[in-house]
Amino acid sequence: MRTNQPTTIHLSEYKVPAYLVDAVDLCFELFDDGARVHSTLSVRHNPESTEESAPLALDGDSLKLESVALNGKELAAGDYEETDEQLVIAKVPVQFELKVVTWIEPQNNTRLEGLYKSSGMFCTQCEAEGFRCITYFPDRPDVMARYRTRIEADKNTCPVLLSNGNDVEKGDLDNGRHFVTWEDPFPKPSYLFALVAGDLVEKQDTFTTCSGRDIDLRIYVEARNAAKTRHALDSLKRAMRWDEETYGREYDLDIFMIVAVDDFNMGAMENKGLNIFNSSCVLASQETATDLAFQRIESIVAHEYFHNWSGNRVTCRDWFQLSLKEGFTVFRDATFSADMGSSTVKRIEDVTLLRTAQFAEDAGPMAHPVRPASYMEISNFYTLTIYEKGEEVVRMIHTLLGPELFRKGSDLYFERHDGQAVTTDDFVRAMEDASGRDLSQFRLWYEQAGTPELTVSDNYDDEQGVYRLTVQQSVPDTPGQTDKKPQHIPFALGLLGADGETLPLTLENDQNAASAPVERVLELTEASHTFEFHGLSQKPVPSLLRSFSAPVRVVYPWSREQLLFLMSHDSDGFNRWDAGQRLAIDVIQSLVASTETVEVEPRLVEAYRSLLGDATLDQALVAKMMQLPSEAYLVELANSPDVAAIHRTRERVATYLATALRDELIECYHRNTGTDVYEITPESVARRSLRNTALAWLLMINDETGRDLALAQLSAADNMTDRMGALRALVNSDYASERTQVLTDFYERFQEDPQVVEQWFSVQASSDRAGQLPQIHALLEHPAFDWKNPNKIRSVVAVFAGQNLAAFHNPDGSGYEFLADQVCRLDDSNPQIAARLVTPLTRWKKFAPAYSALMRSALERVRDKSELSADLYEVVHKSLES
Ligand code: PHE
Ligand code: ZN
Repeated sequence: MRTNQPTTIHLSEYKVPAYLVDAVDLCFELFDDGARVHSTLSVRHNPESTEESAPLALDGDSLKLESVALNGKELAAGDYEETDEQLVIAKVPVQFELKVVTWIEPQNNTRLEGLYKSSGMFCTQCEAEGFRCITYFPDRPDVMARYRTRIEADKNTCPVLLSNGNDVEKGDLDNGRHFVTWEDPFPKPSYLFALVAGDLVEKQDTFTTCSGRDIDLRIYVEARNAAKTRHALDSLKRAMRWDEETYGREYDLDIFMIVAVDDFNMGAMENKGLNIFNSSCVLASQETATDLAFQRIESIVAHEYFHNWSGNRVTCRDWFQLSLKEGFTVFRDATFSADMGSSTVKRIEDVTLLRTAQFAEDAGPMAHPVRPASYMEISNFYTLTIYEKGEEVVRMIHTLLGPELFRKGSDLYFERHDGQAVTTDDFVRAMEDASGRDLSQFRLWYEQAGTPELTVSDNYDDEQGVYRLTVQQSVPDTPGQTDKKPQHIPFALGLLGADGETLPLTLENDQNAASAPVERVLELTEASHTFEFHGLSQKPVPSLLRSFSAPVRVVYPWSREQLLFLMSHDSDGFNRWDAGQRLAIDVIQSLVASTETVEVEPRLVEAYRSLLGDATLDQALVAKMMQLPSEAYLVELANSPDVAAIHRTRERVATYLATALRDELIECYHRNTGTDVYEITPESVARRSLRNTALAWLLMINDETGRDLALAQLSAADNMTDRMGALRALVNSDYASERTQVLTDFYERFQEDPQVVEQWFSVQASSDRAGQLPQIHALLEHPAFDWKNPNKIRSVVAVFAGQNLAAFHNPDGSGYEFLADQVCRLDDSNPQIAARLVTPLTRWKKFAPAYSALMRSALERVRDKSELSADLYEVVHKSLES
């Protein structure tokens, strides 16, 4: 058991650094058995610090110190103190040069923080606190320095040597070695440092910026992946153009590089001029990547590129401000993706993630504000709240200010803070200063955790023609936070008349009723508001929180008639989809709650039938509307969910619908299949999505025609979307021998491709047919499984626990014990991944007593593991104590 508790860091204790570093000169000598890092720092006392003669404290982790010299003079052992986490020099001048030499072992680095090896290449990951695993340094984002980096390595195994900035010098050395020196002119925090050395091929392109500068774009990959880089390069160029047009941001260096690595803890990293990507988030070809993967790659490439301004040029003062760069950058990439494809579909996807996973986080033991007040291990705070809720917060500012003032605000923010390390408050202030709006109450979105709940009620006065809408808000308690204040919430609203027409929204004190808008963004600032709409000759159907204008839960007593009506009439595409979801949820929930076997709502069939038959509708939206709410979302919405019952009922509803709509589904399949060439346009993506959804439904009822269509599609497909769609449908059917056969064939064909093998693992791990615990154990024993590779771990273990809910929540507790075992095992090699993986168990309180007791005991077993990492310590203790 861990005896010493990791320390808690508080935002309220922030102090400016006592010393600043103006320049860093690094030299890496890379060898097979380790690396020697020479670091020369130009240090000076920070004039803003009140600590006059503070000791110099540098962070370090797992370093072997070889020497320290101050102003050219080697220090003796007594001149400094070396602890597990720091190098402290008690007395230093106001300005000096410090030389530190350390020895590290990248080849043994399984945590994938700092400098490590992946498929034979050297690479780095420094966010948040990885630079301290490379050399001693004040490893905090408010210390910004200019870097010069020389890399020396074997010419054969490492022909490519990369770091941030521009390459300024290169040459040969003795013993078959060579070197390259890089210089980054922009001061940056240490978390943006990057180095790559390996045997990589280069794919090249160029981009001409708005001011006419030519930028050299390069992607570096292993030779076998050379044919999978086109999409990322194209996405990059689109993102560069978009950021110029939408935010007025031009790229600033002469070269922009992307590197793909197989072993990576996260999706990708925005290191200055040298973005490093998880292979699965950058490599794609028609043959091996699904439409979803193509879209994800486009958005992640854009996300990392956008960080060049929102994150790099203007960075975070401390890690409590993480959402400053992440929330804003997710907002930027989401708007970009919306502009590149279907904005309604993009919004639906983002809200689905938010409501399923972020709302669950906000209701769980790790709930924290968008700007947390404390943490133990910062890597535990790369959360859905920081990213997704953080995005929603920026989106609400955009909604409140409107596009022009928001742009004025972002211009001011970038101009005012260029080259600085700032706070979320600075961001909000720039928005206020540019717009003249007061966002003081709005700031509560950064401070209060928990998902606000809006309870809406209404009545219609037919004598006066007045419709009254009352909205009450409350923010639930979260760990360490009670009695919250009302927040400032933009609440977009429309009203529909009996024929589905949008009605003018005339508020009581509106002067000109004739020009009343048909949509309004009402601003909620108090616990309760009542709005009165005049001049209405009939009781309208409200379309609430259009486009999901705020990250809140809405409670309103919708009748099924109203939902059916909105599902076919709402002019807000998002709400049209949402009405369908709410209807399906209502049907499933009432079936779960009822003891006798009641009939499934027959009107649901008619609703889906008209959806399937309506060729005038945006087919991308239809494809989304044809997806039932996920089990995970149904579980999130329930109190003490009975997972098995939710699983059974959802299947029952799907089976009922598929049986009733069988002919229409076949027809839909054929209508959306043709000899079309493969393109990634919203239209063709929608066609593939619809035909694969039709297949999934048909195989849910084990339809023979459906099976034959799936088998034929699987063998004829010229792209991974269709292949995966057919594979998934077959795997989730009761055709057991076909399932085994197609899985075997698929593996045979794609076993050399790690990205495809990961998808192959996921399809099985998420399936209640192919992913019961004994089968999951078999996947872990599979030759393609690799405990050192986070993607493989995620595609089996995380997918099982997060998407195969009935199997994971097996009443005998075996799923929980399994997860606890894997978490303990991983904690010794990769604590960041272990701490993420344990998440499903941390939700133990939500479940009925029989389940929660078992979950809790699995968690306790993790807690009692010997040498528990700080990462896992924080998550496990917080969830057991809550
Ligand atoms: N900053 C990265 C991003 O959001 C995510 C990341 C965090 C990557 C920490 C690695 C380590 O783009
Ligand atoms: Zn990011």
